[in-house]
Amino acid sequence: MTFDRSLKIAPSILASDFANFGAECAAVEAQGADWIHVDVMDGHFVPAITFGAQTCAAIRPHIKTVMDVHLMISPVDAYLQGFADAGADVITAHVEAGPHIHRTLQTIRGLGCKAGVALNPGTPASAVADLMDDVDLVCVMTVNPGFGGQKFIDMTAKVRQLREMIGDRPVHIEIDGGVDPSTAPLVRAAGADVLVAGSAVFRGGSVDNPGPYGDNIRAIRAAAG
Ligand code: DX5
Ligand code: ZN
Repeated sequence: MTFDRSLKIAPSILASDFANFGAECAAVEAQGADWIHVDVMDGHFVPAITFGAQTCAAIRPHIKTVMDVHLMISPVDAYLQGFADAGADVITAHVEAGPHIHRTLQTIRGLGCKAGVALNPGTPASAVADLMDDVDLVCVMTVNPGFGGQKFIDMTAKVRQLREMIGDRPVHIEIDGGVDPSTAPLVRAAGADVLVAGSAVFRGGSVDNPGPYGDNIRAIRAAAG
């Protein structure tokens, strides 16, 4: 994975057909997705349960680009090896998920993956100020994690602060939640480079009719500029 700050659209398969992840990943990639965002939920850190490392491993061969695994789980550390073995390129853990985020990030890098840290809407940028040399990605949640299809919460000021804190370091800023053509320009202008989008990408299309995925991705890209 090479680093740059160009715009990347990362469809979240949370909004795709759970019975057909492999084909859904191939379809959105063929339609222009840059990364694939994979949401892991444990029913404890967040209310919903999705799937774990075994499902990630099953999905992996169907992804040609970057597999971006977002862990909404607590505790985290005991599961990291499993997600690395599953072939994750990026593993993101929440700063709120436990007392030892620094150790978690070190472990992720030690497993050969890019390390991400995610911040809930109620968590200030300052919570990750001492982690700038230990992360490859900061994920700014623009909804409270747990479900797709929620309304965007404006975290533009936080994105600007993080962009300044990052400086010249090769650290991505990712936005997750409620991204669509109306909200994408705000976060892109504030300094984000990875835009996760679930419902705004998968709506209207299917594996058998993937054209709308491409239309939706192009609409977000064009709006973000
Ligand atoms: C929310 C997840 C998101 C979600 C985004 O807890 O982390 O990745 O899939 O979905 P949309 O784009 O529909 O808000
Ligand atoms: Zn996510």
